[in-house]
Amino acid sequence: MSSIVEKTAVGQAIDRVEGHLKVTGKAKYASEFPVPNKVYAQGINSTIAKGEIVSIDTSEAEKQEGVLKVITHQNAEKLKTFEEEPAAISTDSIAPVLQDHKVHYYGQYIGVVIAETFEQAQYAARLVKVEYRKEASPAIIFEKNKDKAYRPKESSDYSRGDLEKGLSEADEIIDAVYNTPIEHHHPMELHALIASWENGGVTAYASQQMVEDATIAISETFQIPQEKVRVIAAFVGGGFGSKLKVERQVILATMASKMIGRPVQMTVTRHQMFTNTGMRQRNEQHMRIGAKKDGTLTALAHETLSHTSINEEFQESCGMVSKMLYKVPNNLVTHRLMPMNLQTPFAMRAPGEATGSFALECAMDEMAWKLKMDPIDFRIKNDTQTDLSEDQPFSSRLLVECLRIGAEKFGWEKRNMKPRTNKEGNWLKGYGVSAASRNSPYKETHSKVILKQHKDLVEATIKMDATDIGTGSYTIIAQTAAEYLKIPVEQVSVELGDSDFPVTPGSGGSWGAASYCNGARAACEKALQELKKKLNIPEAEEVPVAELLQKNNLMEYEAEGSAKPSEEFEKHSVYSFGANFCEVWVDKDTGMWRINRMVNVGSAGRILNPKTAYGQIIGGLTMGAGMALAEQTRVEPNFGNFITRSFADYHVPVNLDLAQIDVIFLPEEDKIANKMGIKGIGELGITSVAASIGNAIFNATGKRMRDLPITPEKLI
Ligand code: MOS
Repeated sequence: MSSIVEKTAVGQAIDRVEGHLKVTGKAKYASEFPVPNKVYAQGINSTIAKGEIVSIDTSEAEKQEGVLKVITHQNAEKLKTFEEEPAAISTDSIAPVLQDHKVHYYGQYIGVVIAETFEQAQYAARLVKVEYRKEASPAIIFEKNKDKAYRPKESSDYSRGDLEKGLSEADEIIDAVYNTPIEHHHPMELHALIASWENGGVTAYASQQMVEDATIAISETFQIPQEKVRVIAAFVGGGFGSKLKVERQVILATMASKMIGRPVQMTVTRHQMFTNTGMRQRNEQHMRIGAKKDGTLTALAHETLSHTSINEEFQESCGMVSKMLYKVPNNLVTHRLMPMNLQTPFAMRAPGEATGSFALECAMDEMAWKLKMDPIDFRIKNDTQTDLSEDQPFSSRLLVECLRIGAEKFGWEKRNMKPRTNKEGNWLKGYGVSAASRNSPYKETHSKVILKQHKDLVEATIKMDATDIGTGSYTIIAQTAAEYLKIPVEQVSVELGDSDFPVTPGSGGSWGAASYCNGARAACEKALQELKKKLNIPEAEEVPVAELLQKNNLMEYEAEGSAKPSEEFEKHSVYSFGANFCEVWVDKDTGMWRINRMVNVGSAGRILNPKTAYGQIIGGLTMGAGMALAEQTRVEPNFGNFITRSFADYHVPVNLDLAQIDVIFLPEEDKIANKMGIKGIGELGITSVAASIGNAIFNATGKRMRDLPITPEKLI
């Protein structure tokens, strides 16, 4: 038996334990639950960006076969409403909808049709006639709203030293602006839920990343006790941040169910995934870097201008990465927001770091080129083991090792520093590098373990309200239980995504794996400890769990445990680090590119399952390539709708664009981070990928690309 444990416990590349459920269609996603008596909702979106609804005529829609109700601001339940001033939103914010006749952005929900079938609801929604009073001059165009920029209430501005002094001491200065466009997350599973309102409470099969925060948002929006809200999200088909908070369709479906007394399913369309489920905001990042001739950094400023909506505030903190990555005495980070008639942006994979690292790591490359220094040497020269922004050490930081090992695997020594010198036929070949870092949070997590004797085997079930958004939570939690209980992973079942289960922080911010696994570990340790205590066996003694149950005369035993950050954790800055290398080929006549190779080296603590971990990093690299080369959502300048609103025009990389991807994890266990030594990887993989590609394109073509995406016409 011990050999089986060896093969299946933490660190082994086992297949996903829930894989067969997914490929056989047995894993149920939010809109797949056969809830009896359910009906369907279709949201109606505004077709102006700013103004008022003068009238809504729902009579034609209401006459249609199967239509049960049309809800607009005229008959919607009055909910807890917004503050007048823009309020900062978070993952558990209230989400009022249909509360007045005002329109703040194109695509805002202005009504919802409920019908017996999905098709009936969709058809009737088109028959609702809306008359608007359009307000002139909505704030749609980024460039025209700069005078409205303000410092957000929840400011993340930061400074140390004296920037101007640092710049005056520099021998070389980089002063450049980097632009990243609006991007959208498009998880495979559409946002969806089935809400059943009953007895003053609601049960919701929902596609959410954070179960507890969803229950809070729903309970506060409807002003009902949190215990009256049950959220079930056993399987989530991707989120990338878009499912961190409760979006308005969750509230619409719940409100509709409350009004008509039947379960209501609302699945948004792919088109509505552009207008109603958040987005990455457009950022204009102004970088200033000063350095001495020998490569010593003297100053670094990272100033970001972005937009938010009219009545909600969200900022992607692009400059965070510039506070901590390098040893620079004089540092300034600012963020400003413009209120615009666009939906409120929200977190998209590595919010802040993905975009911020593009600006920082391109600017670093520009400086290295100016100094005629190798960009790896330049980064290593300015490495630090102290987080200067917090004045505390990193729990572990192997950035230099990532850069060195990556350089060797990649063949960095073959790079010519001078652009346009590596050619083959029409192709200009370039090598690029960037340093990656991502905060690795860890949060209090509760878990339950149920042990059952089955013949002479012990079967264990782990329960927690964690989610698996495609990342592999089920698998790594099962591996953890197998390891701590010393039973084969086949004897472990994992049940997730139910607000009735012990509370976890959910999947987001790269804290899932560390939090979930330490929570499961704590429950298993607790069970063993309690079973030994009953028998007066010293805690340190190793006794098989089957024997502990038998000796206690127990067929079944249940224990709850919880894990949370230690004091040591709080005294350190806990980050995952990495290095990205890529080789890009650019056609000198057409500007067409091809990413020929990518090598990513990561230092992310203990790797729980190389297979799912590789999946995370490869997904991040692909998303980073999309950010660099293809992804952008364009805003129509007069009406404020998105021109880019389907996969026909919102481009993402495909296999032909990305050739070979190598992922290397440095062996590491970070015991300061948490007892199991785990750090986050969900967002590390996308961080600074765009910079490595931009830098490779410079090396290939001699052109500095500071505006994403780098579409071929920009390279001609
Ligand atoms: Mo992530 S953007 O915290 O899902």
